[in-house]
Amino acid sequence: MTADTTRLQAVSIVSALRANNGSLSSLLEPYRKQNSPEQQALLQAICFGVCRHYEQLLYLSTQFLKKPLRKKDEDISCLMLIGIYQLLYMNMPDYAVVNECVESCRKLKKNWAKNLLNAVLRSVQREGQELLDSAQSEPSIHYSHPQWLIRQLAADWPEDYLQILEANNIQGPMTLRVNQLLTSRQDYLQVLASKSISAHPGVICDSAVILEQACDVNALPGFSAGLVSVQDEASQVAAQILQVRNSDRVLDACAAPGGKSCAILEYAPEAQLLALDNSQSRLDKVRENLQRIGLRAELLCADLLHQAGQWRRQELFFDRILLDVPCSATGVIRRHPDIKLLRQPDDIEKLKVLQQAMLLECWPLLKPGGKLLYTSCSLLQAENNQQIQAFLHNTPDAAELDINLAWGHKLNHGRQLFPSPGAHDGFYYALLQKC
Ligand SMILES: C[S@@+](CC[C@H](N)C(=O)[O-])C[C@H]1O[C@@H](n2cnc3c(N)ncnc32)[C@H](O)[C@@H]1O
Repeated sequence: MTADTTRLQAVSIVSALRANNGSLSSLLEPYRKQNSPEQQALLQAICFGVCRHYEQLLYLSTQFLKKPLRKKDEDISCLMLIGIYQLLYMNMPDYAVVNECVESCRKLKKNWAKNLLNAVLRSVQREGQELLDSAQSEPSIHYSHPQWLIRQLAADWPEDYLQILEANNIQGPMTLRVNQLLTSRQDYLQVLASKSISAHPGVICDSAVILEQACDVNALPGFSAGLVSVQDEASQVAAQILQVRNSDRVLDACAAPGGKSCAILEYAPEAQLLALDNSQSRLDKVRENLQRIGLRAELLCADLLHQAGQWRRQELFFDRILLDVPCSATGVIRRHPDIKLLRQPDDIEKLKVLQQAMLLECWPLLKPGGKLLYTSCSLLQAENNQQIQAFLHNTPDAAELDINLAWGHKLNHGRQLFPSPGAHDGFYYALLQKC
């Protein structure tokens, strides 16, 4: 298989993303079996890069096209974006990029597009950077984010949004959660050092280790034995905030793929944890993770909005509930740059309704004195503190508990982390107690 094949695979992935037909990770997955590790890495680098710099690439392609391409030539549009990305951001000789992209037109049986692609790519080669420099004052191009998202972030975080946009374009580090049932962070750091794997401790969570360079999980000492798992620091810390006790019955209400379920059980291994999710394939990942680490939990594939009523009727109550809601994922754009293409402004309204319904359904399942931790990987106040404010307003037996930690931004309700280069993702937490 050649680089040409990889480029054509990238064309079909970028085209599916533009049609909102799946996420980048789900679209990349099927190619894993047929590609060599090197080809898969190249495919991944192209697709992640195109998503990360999408607005810039789109801007340049429209600048150099006399008229927009037709819908049926979506493949050529995507090939053009990929070519522009490779010219601007990949360490490849320009002539090779131009020649290979032109050759790909033939493979797509669109010989007519060869001259067009050649002309656009050569223009980008000559004037692309200059054009981008002169568009610096337009934030959606300079930071390569959709305008609606920049407007929303600026409204929510007028003093911080430019830093957030910058951080969203810097790839997040590979972070590990050390299983403190089996080893200590200090000891694991020494094991890594002995294998010449450079790493340092995380700052906000005492189980976190940040690698200087990402690597294959199978190269990590003790990974298959459950000594460590891959999980961002911001996500790991949820287990410490919820402070689960070994005697607790715990509901992880949106559990898959299980990062926080496992972190909770490493914190309190005797706790009786029920991990619910409405996606069976994602729940299979929870099972895999539990098995690898050697932890026990009950798994249930169900819609929380239906299941909660059934449990209420059966009088099944919990001491702790983790509600890690489905959200815009705007705090993890650096790891999932496809969010920039996939998320649309009206998604936020739909997510808000779902999140509030989940909170209302979970609340009656909590025992008096019990604690519920609401978390999201969103940076938008509509999904975070405003949700908690509305919930507290309508729920007389709910009180908010302070999260007494020295990081992040304390809001009127809950605590917000922004994505931080070389460190944690963007995340939100609010801890509630039933009176
Ligand atoms: C943010 S993810 C959870 C991540 C997980 N807590 C972890 O740490 O690995 C949200 C999850 O909610 C699930 N979900 C969405 N709607 C749901 C519903 N109505 N009932 C149950 N689960 C749902 C999704 O399948 C997704 O796995």
